[in-house]
Amino acid sequence: MCKECEKKTFYITTPIYYPSGNPHIGHTYTTVACDSIARYKRMQGYDVMFLTGTDEHGQKIEQKAKEQGVTPKQYVDEIVAIFKKLWEYMNINYDRYIRTTDDYHVESVQKIFKALYDKGYIYKGEYKGKYCTPCESFWTESQLVDGKCPDCGREVIEAAEEAYFMKMAPFAERIEKLLTETDYLRPKTRAVELVNNFLQPSVDENGNKTYGLEDLCVSRTSFSWGVPVTFDPGHVVYVWIDALSNYITALGYENGAFDDYKTYWPADVHMVAKDIMRFHAIIWPAMLMGLEQPLPKHLAVHGWITFNGQKMSKSLGNVVDPFILGERYGVDAIRYHIMREMALGADSSFSNEIMINRINTDLANGLGNLVSRTVAMIDKYFGGTLPAEREEGDFDADLIAVATALKAKVDNYVENTQLNLALEEIFKLVSRANKYIDETTPWILGKDESKKARLATVLYNLLESIRIASTLLSAFMPGTMPKVFEQIGAVDCATYENADKFGVLPLDVTVKRGEALFPRIDVEKEIEELNTIIKNNEPKPEPAFELPEHKAEIAFDDFEKVELRVAKVLACEKVKKSKKLLKFTLDDGEGERIILSGIAEYYDPEELVGKNIAYVANLAPRKMMGIESRGMILSAESGDGLKVVTIDDSILPGGSLV
Ligand code: MSP
Repeated sequence: MCKECEKKTFYITTPIYYPSGNPHIGHTYTTVACDSIARYKRMQGYDVMFLTGTDEHGQKIEQKAKEQGVTPKQYVDEIVAIFKKLWEYMNINYDRYIRTTDDYHVESVQKIFKALYDKGYIYKGEYKGKYCTPCESFWTESQLVDGKCPDCGREVIEAAEEAYFMKMAPFAERIEKLLTETDYLRPKTRAVELVNNFLQPSVDENGNKTYGLEDLCVSRTSFSWGVPVTFDPGHVVYVWIDALSNYITALGYENGAFDDYKTYWPADVHMVAKDIMRFHAIIWPAMLMGLEQPLPKHLAVHGWITFNGQKMSKSLGNVVDPFILGERYGVDAIRYHIMREMALGADSSFSNEIMINRINTDLANGLGNLVSRTVAMIDKYFGGTLPAEREEGDFDADLIAVATALKAKVDNYVENTQLNLALEEIFKLVSRANKYIDETTPWILGKDESKKARLATVLYNLLESIRIASTLLSAFMPGTMPKVFEQIGAVDCATYENADKFGVLPLDVTVKRGEALFPRIDVEKEIEELNTIIKNNEPKPEPAFELPEHKAEIAFDDFEKVELRVAKVLACEKVKKSKKLLKFTLDDGEGERIILSGIAEYYDPEELVGKNIAYVANLAPRKMMGIESRGMILSAESGDGLKVVTIDDSILPGGSLV
């Protein structure tokens, strides 16, 4: 409960993302989902704290900054700006943004580390293990999949260094209970895999329960871009204690920057994808147990957005750049699509075709059409303002029942972090309302003067259904729904409180036609255009070496002046006192010809003997180092120097190249 406003509080977090590359549609999913829940809770009257941010320390960031010749802070500053720009673009209304490089966070992490050390949960040892550099994770042999990192599938390296460790055994039993006996983990089906793979409980010969859960490496000495361990210079706090603490340091835990810890902690929902479930399901509760702090209420784990069967990643970023998609279809269409596709716990495969079809079916033909048809008919039959007379009829009761039951269902789905089901439910009302138009045939009623009251009732019921659907949708599509409220005359009454009531709009409501909410997309044309964008965005293969500059164009006549011929190398030797020159004795078909060529550093002289080569035959003779050279042997510039252009053996010396 918030002391000041006396509202119930709700605290939701995204993971703090690594700014080691630009944000992509995967990060966008989690953030949009949390934003929608936060908006829904605000609408329900909660005092909401919605936290997101960036996880800015670690070896990978240090390496990337070095590659670019900037400091790690400069490097992350630039990418963090892009994250923030994307969140603004996607209409993300976060309450706080934490950067692990913020001073207050650093200060708190140092205190947290020291507190766990003082309590005896952190000790010094040596870590030997398999280490995945990109994931910054140590793994045990048994956790590796085919000898590779189980998270990203990349090669791991042997690593050993002095390090601090956090004991896990004191917490194992409580964690097992947390995962199996409470509703902390969503979906709970994942508890089995966590318990078996990481907690590894077993009963020893004396009947005592033991766990195979290993201690966690919590400091590093091999890089310096991290939070320094105050009592042991040279060590920096290793990723997870730094990163996970953000959820409490951002509220002011062990720092003076904020005073919100008592108000918002424990968190209601931490939302993450499955790649970091282990850390949030095991390590984070262990840390909090060690600090004797309350545990968060729920951990919602979603799957990955995949593309062609692969986890969406930075390297695929171009393919589904949220900025590009937003520009083409609108931010709300993208928000809708990704939330509608992802079921809690399962992966969701991203496809442009599915996205476009979904936008067309649900948004353009479904909701957009419902709004535009209803408003257009009110305009056409009643000049934009409904008369107050009413006449009930068939189908009304069913529509009203679906509409008024919706809020409770959506509440429940949002409560359980099942946003795809919440959206599916809302769109059942949209479909029901569209069907109601077919059932009640307002265009026929419109032709009959005596049916005006019935027609007004039908159109009013449609407006009310739209009001309810769009009110509940406004948490998910916050940019578009206010436009709907305006069109249906519901600006003042589209509130959450009214979302389970029918008959809220004034009987003589006035509507206002507006632009199409979701323009229909031409699927074929769009797919073609997207494919072109994808192609153009594909990284071009790097040239093997720096290509030489092109020369100015010449006329064919000029080219024809050059006489190119084939000759066989009879002998080849180094020119005395010259580092560069080789002296070639050639059979040019008419006799012997001497040519000097500056390629000595690339060839042993005998290498070329017996080979057919191409040469410029009509170049004016030139004397070098006292030897007359009659022509020029053709060589090609290639990454590692000059290579003589050799010609097929079957060509006879003297043959000209045309
Ligand atoms: N910095 C850590 C998290 C620390 S939280 C205390 C990290 N960062 S990350 O940049 O790799 O982000 C991982 C998170 O981004 C996932 O948990 C998920 O929320 C989101 N996603 C990244 N790629 C994703 C997909 N392809 N699909 C869905 N979500 C994805 O891990």
